[in-house]
Amino acid sequence: MLTKKVETALNKQVEMEGYASNYYLSAASWCDSKGLAGCAGFLYGHADEERMHMMKLFTYINDAGGHALAPNIKQPPLKFKNLKELFESVLEHELAVTKSINNLVDLCMGEKDHSSYNFLQWYVAEQHEEEKLFRTILDKINLLGPDDSRGLYWIDRELAGIQPESGSEPK
Ligand SMILES: [Fe+2]
Ligand SMILES: [Fe+2]
Repeated sequence: MLTKKVETALNKQVEMEGYASNYYLSAASWCDSKGLAGCAGFLYGHADEERMHMMKLFTYINDAGGHALAPNIKQPPLKFKNLKELFESVLEHELAVTKSINNLVDLCMGEKDHSSYNFLQWYVAEQHEEEKLFRTILDKINLLGPDDSRGLYWIDRELAGIQPESGSEPK
């Protein structure tokens, strides 16, 4: 059974994952409009992953006797200066998600909610993977320079080859 505090915080996280999904959707669309089909495909895939993160939380809240609330999601940024700025803002958002997950884990510990604590460990591991992934992508962009069109072409091809991890599927 969830305490009111944990239930509210989990619903806040639902909103954050929903926002993340829309953020990636927006980033994907921007890439699409710039002819970066590989980046767009990668980011569309990531939007789906974030939706899964949201649904996994949603189901958990209801299974644990709480009430999952369909989130009120604000509009994400629609335009980006360049690919480097896009991935920097994506990483920044992932870092904010990690912080939020960590706070949630702290709260569950304080509330002695071992079930939610255990459930959230999946998100702790997932955030580690996501931070690593986006740091790697940014490293590559920085190596080539954001304004080099041949570099952009290469990065676009690189990202086209990255498939969503099967480990990211909710169980
Ligand atoms: Fe997520
Ligand atoms: Fe994420």
